[in-house]
Amino acid sequence: MNPEKRRTVIAGNWKMNFTPAEATAFINEVKPLVAGKDNCDVIFCAPFVTIAAAQEAAKGSNIKIGAENVHFAEKGAYTGEVSAQMLTACGVEYVIIGHSERRQYFGETDETVNLRTKAALAAGMKVILCLGEVKDERLNGITNEIVSMQTKLDLLGVSAEQMKNVIIAYEPVWAIGTGLTATPEQAEETCAVIRATLASIYGEDVAESVTIQYGGSMNEKNAAELLAKPNVDGGLIGGASLVAEKFRAIVDAAQ
Ligand code: 13P
Repeated sequence: MNPEKRRTVIAGNWKMNFTPAEATAFINEVKPLVAGKDNCDVIFCAPFVTIAAAQEAAKGSNIKIGAENVHFAEKGAYTGEVSAQMLTACGVEYVIIGHSERRQYFGETDETVNLRTKAALAAGMKVILCLGEVKDERLNGITNEIVSMQTKLDLLGVSAEQMKNVIIAYEPVWAIGTGLTATPEQAEETCAVIRATLASIYGEDVAESVTIQYGGSMNEKNAAELLAKPNVDGGLIGGASLVAEKFRAIVDAAQ
């Protein structure tokens, strides 16, 4: 973290978990545990049908509720999709885009991730843009090239001004849901590569101001070490964001 330069953000990605009733119960449980922990922003990204219940439960707290994806069209014949206009009409400010599970299982590419990112930003949303290498890419020593290319492609046409509303989540695919975590050194090195890529596009000042999270089996045990690295500005948390005490410990590590 480097709180003098950029905001620390701890975000949960609930993925396909929690009914509205479960989300309400969870937010009510976690709310007092993270209250007053003002050194980081606290966000939970929820399934579309769970957002309203989570928002209601989070009212008056420091918890913000986001979505897990957004389509790039405003409206139209896109069965099963939800637009940025629909999300903002529901008071949703944050949205995850480009998660590896979307890329892996639902055919999303850097091109569609870029379209979604531009649409969300144009609608005034804040984007948590996910990228990261798969295992073979790391084993073959091309992680830096991969994340640099993804950063460039996913942000094509995004202005320096709009970067104020972009958080990047570096999520090595091999570490997601596997219990394997990037070492703090690996996370730091790759986040620094992403920041250097941002500097090559937008200049140093913008690059230094962008929050870059780490995601991939971040938990209550490894969070402090990861967050101690200067280029790791927070976490995007899957499994541990479903357990209030674990999530609290991660938020505490960011204080
Ligand atoms: P896990 O924390 O369960 O590995 O998931 C990470 C993730 O995909 C967050 O978006």
